[in-house]
Amino acid sequence: MLKARESVRSLPAYQSPLVARPGLRLDLNENTAGCSPQVLARLRELTVNDVGYYREREPIEALMASHLGLDSTEVLLTNGADEGIHLFAETFLDPGDEALLVVPTFVTFETSIAATGARIVNVPCEANFGFPLERLTAGINPRTRLIAIANPNNPTGTVVSGETLAEIARRAPDAAVLIDEAYFEYYGKTMLGSWRRGLPNLFVARTFSKAFGMAGLRVGVLAGNAEHVDQIRRVTTPFNVNAVALACLPAALADAGYVREYVEQVRRGREQVRRELARWNVSCCPSEAAFLLANIGPSHEAFVRKMDARGVLVHDRSLDYGCEGWVRISIGKTEHTARLIEALGEVLPEIGATCWRDEEISRLVAPPN
Ligand SMILES: Cc1ncc(COP(=O)(O)O)c(C=O)c1O
Repeated sequence: MLKARESVRSLPAYQSPLVARPGLRLDLNENTAGCSPQVLARLRELTVNDVGYYREREPIEALMASHLGLDSTEVLLTNGADEGIHLFAETFLDPGDEALLVVPTFVTFETSIAATGARIVNVPCEANFGFPLERLTAGINPRTRLIAIANPNNPTGTVVSGETLAEIARRAPDAAVLIDEAYFEYYGKTMLGSWRRGLPNLFVARTFSKAFGMAGLRVGVLAGNAEHVDQIRRVTTPFNVNAVALACLPAALADAGYVREYVEQVRRGREQVRRELARWNVSCCPSEAAFLLANIGPSHEAFVRKMDARGVLVHDRSLDYGCEGWVRISIGKTEHTARLIEALGEVLPEIGATCWRDEEISRLVAPPN
């Protein structure tokens, strides 16, 4: 058998993310209403030539740049944010370099970094999933070449202030600092353009897989200082974003109302689900994203199984750092939230959760962020 690079040989075997199961998919933070009808209309108009020929990325990249208020030299379209993360690690890391991650966080960071042969230094979060700024900055040294932070974070949904992120970038001027804003539309705060304001080593990743409901089309954005983005672009394959996705992106960008309306549904649903969980004495992380991380406790496996049996898929995060017993539940469109709440009301008593009265719930529900 051929030998892969040493850093690749030490990666765990690939595991399929199990997307093809039947049921209401509240396990991968997708938009459960799908894409905008305008995107669907564009898809239906595609011709044989749209699919038969290579399509260049650049005109749509320019459109994306202007949508974000940036220059096209500052923007790279990617095959999902996942590819952006991969290219980022490939560009900035040599074997033996160090990369800092605050855990728990998005698992793809680990795979993309480890594949380069760089060493991952995991900085555990504080109690209650708080952000460990002091310990993170204490870990910065001359070998630190990359820091990746999801904001809002996945799987917790927690956020870090822009000042804190800027402080990290300032304290690690020789490291490429990636802020993964996959859930930006739900949070509303961004570090986009920070590289123009004295933080040339800061980058932002975005995705069309979440609020835009285009996970299957695979589109992401990597943005940063033009000279740095130029280096990442060298690593990119010429047709990394497929022709169908490129054809649909203008329609997606044009229908801001669709995303706004969906985000509203998710925000409302998130608070309803938080209250329902609190009614059963289950607490959650404060979340600014399209999901809640719920502290189900020792019965987490039975909980996931029973939800699954009722046709609602949720994601046990017990293997993530500090997440033993915690289950991530995506929030979807209003009618899916109703279905979720109904299933929770059946399953939680079955695993031994006790029902609380309204006045006790008010005490338990975290104040709005
Ligand atoms: C923080 C974060 N970044 C990136 C991604 C992946 O996005 P994409 O589908 O664009 O690859 C996800 C998806 O779960 C995510 O949670």
